[in-house]
Amino acid sequence: MSNLNRLTHAEQFPGDNASYYTQLSERITAHTARIAVIGQGYVGLPLAAEFCHAGFRVTGLDIDKERVRTLNRGESLTPDVSDATLLALRNAGYYEATWDFSVLRNSDVIVICVPTPLRKSKDPDISYVLATVEQVVKHLCPGQLIILESTTYPGTTEELLLPLFEEKGYVAGQDVFLAFSPERIDPGNKQFTVKDIPKITGGVTPACTQLAAMFYRQIVGKVVEVSSPRVAELAKLYENVFRSVNIALANEFSLMCRQLGVSSREVIDAAASKPFGFMPFYPGPGIGGHCIPIDPAYLAWKLKFSNYQARFIPLAEEINQSMPGYVVDLVSEALNERKLCLNGANVLAIGVAYKRGVGDIRESPALQIMASLSKLGVNISYSDPHVPEIVHAGNSLRSVAVDAAILKACDCVLILTDHAEFDYQQMLMSASLIVDTRGAMRGLSGGNAQIVSL
Ligand SMILES: NC(=O)c1ccc[n+]([C@@H]2O[C@H](COP(=O)([O-])OP(=O)(O)OC[C@H]3O[C@@H](n4cnc5c(N)ncnc54)[C@H](O)[C@@H]3O)[C@@H](O)[C@H]2O)c1
Repeated sequence: MSNLNRLTHAEQFPGDNASYYTQLSERITAHTARIAVIGQGYVGLPLAAEFCHAGFRVTGLDIDKERVRTLNRGESLTPDVSDATLLALRNAGYYEATWDFSVLRNSDVIVICVPTPLRKSKDPDISYVLATVEQVVKHLCPGQLIILESTTYPGTTEELLLPLFEEKGYVAGQDVFLAFSPERIDPGNKQFTVKDIPKITGGVTPACTQLAAMFYRQIVGKVVEVSSPRVAELAKLYENVFRSVNIALANEFSLMCRQLGVSSREVIDAAASKPFGFMPFYPGPGIGGHCIPIDPAYLAWKLKFSNYQARFIPLAEEINQSMPGYVVDLVSEALNERKLCLNGANVLAIGVAYKRGVGDIRESPALQIMASLSKLGVNISYSDPHVPEIVHAGNSLRSVAVDAAILKACDCVLILTDHAEFDYQQMLMSASLIVDTRGAMRGLSGGNAQIVSL
């Protein structure tokens, strides 16, 4: 490394650094700061759109060239940004997608929203974040604010990202600004969108925290500043561990209630009438998506380095992961009562997305349940207005439209995702057997269908 490289940017260009904070804050509050959002998926695109709505010019970066082309045609691939909105933002010059990372040089704020999955070994796969940060560092310019939003293990920002910036001679809080701010959106949720959910910001220095908070205040009503990136990273993980554990509790509770011949949902609703100290979670066929099945493992993994074995996390995982198998058993028992067996039965799966209102099938328990049923000889078909086609048993399987004739022809209708688009009353009137894992049939009456509920 040359002597010049060893100098910080502030040392190479004395006098500049004092004004970086001021310059950037002026550009942020005037909405003239150029924003780059890396990763244009479920998280990155709605965030980019929200800043466009606030009057910022935003470039959406993605390595998926097909996705970039689609976005530039005004076709949104996420439920939280409509095609019409995207097209309008694009035509008005607020939004553009690209795969060319050199645009980072002209950006004042760079937000990273790339995937953080698990490896087959269940260890964190941080390779997407690292590949992105490599590009950011390559194009880094003084005075930029870099924010990581991808969910990750505590310490990622300070242990992994910060040294890469420091190696280039930059000093965080002086000539570049670095923070973590977890994304907390719930895709498909119309009540709480990006702008309605408070942002947590934790910078590697107080100046970094403040700039990141100032940035998000331009689009959200409430920003919670915390003392470090680690606190912000952990806040996100704790939220998702909380969900995972409580869903597991509801799932196990439903198994207990079945033994006692009581509806778990009726009990949970009764308990939820308590106006304090209780938050209802409901049983289901298992957990899916890019967050709840994955994020808790990030925390458990990190703790192994401190010789600490997390206990709630693996227990919740074990219970939640047993649910698809339990659903298969429910179908088998229900058919058996009707003197039918799985082998040769016609089962129509209602919904394959991991939750209502979205077309996301990542980690969806529905896929696992369908695969198990197929292996046991079931003729499986499915309907999902959000998922036109899936790969099932190595072949393409297309969603079917539900009508009375299809319902009558099934031995079992298996409700796996309670999309609002489905006509549950029609199912009740036309099907003979319904296994309902989502409580979709509650409150409905009529018809002759036998209903088995989770
Ligand atoms: N989906 C959710 O509900 C949700 C909610 C909160 C937080 N998160 C977190 O947000 C992060 C992103 O999740 P997502 O659901 O938006 O994922 P996604 O798969 O929908 O989108 C990620 C995008 O990043 C792109 N990408 C991958 N590597 C890249 C690279 N090196 N450079 C540029 N683009 C790259 C992919 O092509 C993809 O378009 C994850 O850490 C996730 O855990 C997700």
